[in-house]
Amino acid sequence: MEFIDEDLQRYAEEHTSPESELLHKVSRQTHLNVLKPRMLSGHLQGRLLSMFSHMIQPKQVLEIGTYTGYSALCLAEGLQEDGTLHTIDINEELESVVRGYIAEAGLSESIKYYIGPALDIIPTIEATFDLVFIDADKINNARYYDLVIDRVRSGGYIITDNVLWSGKVLEKYRKKLDEDTAALLAFNQKVHDDPRVENILLPVRDGLLVARKK
Ligand SMILES: C[S@@+](CC[C@H](N)C(=O)[O-])C[C@H]1O[C@@H](n2cnc3c(N)ncnc32)[C@H](O)[C@@H]1O
Repeated sequence: MEFIDEDLQRYAEEHTSPESELLHKVSRQTHLNVLKPRMLSGHLQGRLLSMFSHMIQPKQVLEIGTYTGYSALCLAEGLQEDGTLHTIDINEELESVVRGYIAEAGLSESIKYYIGPALDIIPTIEATFDLVFIDADKINNARYYDLVIDRVRSGGYIITDNVLWSGKVLEKYRKKLDEDTAALLAFNQKVHDDPRVENILLPVRDGLLVARKK
């Protein structure tokens, strides 16, 4: 589902800084060679993640759901010089291609890439996070949130992707309430009700829920 008119989307992209050559290549190669390329953040959302990262200037970033590395490269753009971005994905098939892109970006030192289930890996990462990006299996969003909330510094951010779930958060856009949609509804409400954060749901692409820890 497109939330805004196709022409307006194009206009917004035309008035947004372009992707780097490498990001363009990651996007193109993903669309040509990888299953479910719609999962990739893409130009507009990628520039927004980069903008957030530049605003926050994080030292420690955690990303849950690397896929082909597009959003990791965007989020790394605002990292402090000695900062680290930790990114986790369960899919080992994409490992060599992702490591290739990270090397091409010259970020092999600052991006730590972990393969495995995020629920197992997150507790092994020793860091206090300035920024967390949740973008993996939606059913586990609340578990990821609970695992990281105490490890985000006061004033740090948790950004969660796909919270509008192609519109299915509204009854009129779904045929039935499936498990993922129910989990997303519960997650969005949980964050909204959490007194530890301030939140804004941005209707960008498939919906980004931005929570700032008080
Ligand atoms: C939507 S894609 C991530 C897209 C990427 N963040 C981007 O914007 O380009 C979701 C990714 O989460 C990964 N994933 C799914 N379940 C996972 C789990 N339990 N632990 C870690 N990664 C998982 C999938 O393999 C997939 O690559």
